[in-house]
Amino acid sequence: MTALRLFDSPREAAEACGAAILEALDAARSERGRARLAVSGGTTPRIMFEWMARQAFDWSRVDLFWVDERCVPIDDAQSNYRMTRESLLDAIGGAAIGGAAIHRVRTEFPPEEAARLYVEEIRASFGLRPGELPEFDVVQRGMGPDKHTASLFPGEPLIENETDIAAAVWVEKFGQHRVTLLPGVLKNARATYNLVTGADKAVALREVFSGDSSALESPAKIASPGTIWFVDGAAFPAGLP
Ligand code: 6PG
Repeated sequence: MTALRLFDSPREAAEACGAAILEALDAARSERGRARLAVSGGTTPRIMFEWMARQAFDWSRVDLFWVDERCVPIDDAQSNYRMTRESLLDAIGGAAIGGAAIHRVRTEFPPEEAARLYVEEIRASFGLRPGELPEFDVVQRGMGPDKHTASLFPGEPLIENETDIAAAVWVEKFGQHRVTLLPGVLKNARATYNLVTGADKAVALREVFSGDSSALESPAKIASPGTIWFVDGAAFPAGLP
């Protein structure tokens, strides 16, 4: 089931997405003892993280992962970890979530090694058997104007990899290596919350919702059973056809 929630502004969409994440984490922790969240980077989530940081939320027993990461130093302006640290982790305080619960991609290693270590860390945290995929309680994603999501860009062969957990990928468009979760993991999420705002996303969003392109052409079409889109009017100007 894919649902769409339309808001008047990016801020309202971001705050609603943040609230849905916290609610889902609370429920997961109550049901299963721990909650596991994977967040995206880029620019859109920043105001969401800042809002989340202002909430009286108990971050204990939450494991935080990233959907993808640019293979840059963690203090680089392009680092997704840095953006999350600045907008959420520094504000809630390291003790709130606990260092061991923050599972960043270790970009101090070369891309392939960083990806291998990340997969190992995910396997250990979830207690996975060989060949098993993690089931995140929440995966928060974004979408680029080119319909990419995570670091899966149109035409990327990894879009058809539904068995592995994560991989290093070369993104020609940005001349950059990244590490990204793979489609099998994205599809396996209990809940996927896509936060997409801004007029620059409108054409892509229309195609994702009503076009007949494949996931290879429109990776943002990759969905899990509980997918909800949090969008603003600028990204969704005239509604669905
Ligand atoms: C990344 C993200 C990526 C992001 C989209 C949208 O590393 O860039 O994980 O998938 O969600 O590129 O980015 P904006 O929010 O900056 O538009």
